[in-house]
Amino acid sequence: MKAYEIRNSFGLENLERVERPEPEPGPGQLLVQVSSTSLNYRDLLMVDGRYNPRQPLPLIPLSDGVGKIVAVGAGVGGFAVGERVAGTFFQGWQAGRPSVAAVRDTLGGPIDGMLAQRVVLGESGVVRVPDHLSDAEASTLPCAALTAWNALVESGGLKAGDTVLIQGTGGVSIFALQFAKLFSAEVFIISSSDEKLERARALGADFCINYMATPKWGKEVRRLSGGGVDHVVEVGGAGTFGESLRAVRLGGQIAVIGILAGAARELDLTRILMNKLRIQGILVGHRQSFQGMNRAVEAGKLRPIIDGLFPFSAARDAFERLRSGAHFGKICIGVREE
Ligand SMILES: NC(=O)c1ccc[n+]([C@@H]2O[C@H](COP(=O)([O-])OP(=O)(O)OC[C@H]3O[C@@H](n4cnc5c(N)ncnc54)[C@H](OP(=O)(O)O)[C@@H]3O)[C@@H](O)[C@H]2O)c1
Repeated sequence: MKAYEIRNSFGLENLERVERPEPEPGPGQLLVQVSSTSLNYRDLLMVDGRYNPRQPLPLIPLSDGVGKIVAVGAGVGGFAVGERVAGTFFQGWQAGRPSVAAVRDTLGGPIDGMLAQRVVLGESGVVRVPDHLSDAEASTLPCAALTAWNALVESGGLKAGDTVLIQGTGGVSIFALQFAKLFSAEVFIISSSDEKLERARALGADFCINYMATPKWGKEVRRLSGGGVDHVVEVGGAGTFGESLRAVRLGGQIAVIGILAGAARELDLTRILMNKLRIQGILVGHRQSFQGMNRAVEAGKLRPIIDGLFPFSAARDAFERLRSGAHFGKICIGVREE
């Protein structure tokens, strides 16, 4: 079967299409014929060798993928041939608080990921995906969608009518916008692009701010919201955290997800304690949460926003598109027999 591997060394130029032996499901495992995959920022870091420079190679990249079960191993009870499933980001985290062992095996590094025609996954490492979604749409759910769901709903306790600040218009952020609107939340969104802000407005964003034109956007969000928002979806990290602290209301919370604008900077903690803030680190989410999110996606007939669907032969172009930062929502790669 065909797959992509980061071969002997890191770098997109070393992402190569290869022939791999046909995988076979062992006891408790499923063989999945992959139909679509999607990219996350982490995948780019992984290919570049910036996520974990000690990651053993070769590695099949991508944590997100969906496909049909084509064979089941001995003892599989919960799934049958023909069902459509997505792999879970953490192959071992089923529910509850994470343990070191539960968050060790993640698809697309350290263990092989989804950019292959067929993959073998444990039956506890997959979930069914909503019927109304195309394969490409369904393939966007495992990492970005679950992260946004976890930030706002599972850990965040989002309630109808809450106010939410979202940073940027990438994969996690656009899902956060969609979930926030599912709860009739009032959404503030910042982006480097007026054009992307218009697209966010069309998806229901209530207040749109260009963070290049308004670098003190935290103050502006505070003013527009009449004292600060209930939730901040933090993907910028050190470079945005100071403004997030200005944007959040007394007793509000900041979900710390990404470090796109840096990982470390001096921080005055006074605002956190004086405003009784809750700062919550987010680590994608567990399988039970994925299943709960899928019920909400189904009930709300939510359709993930796809920036582009690349053919399997153009996998590198998909990574380049992600690197460019020009995308809005998710980038997918289709996987077909060729
Ligand atoms: N903790 C977790 O479990 C977890 C899970 C998923 C992702 N992440 C992290 O979350 C981040 C986003 O991931 P993703 O896959 O959604 O990435 P993505 O699709 O590449 O989105 C990146 C977007 O972030 C926005 N952005 C960049 N710098 C910004 C800044 N200084 N201020 C505000 N917005 C900024 C940009 O939006 P505009 O173009 O609109 O300006 C950019 O398009 C990454 O750091 C990723 O590693 C963490």
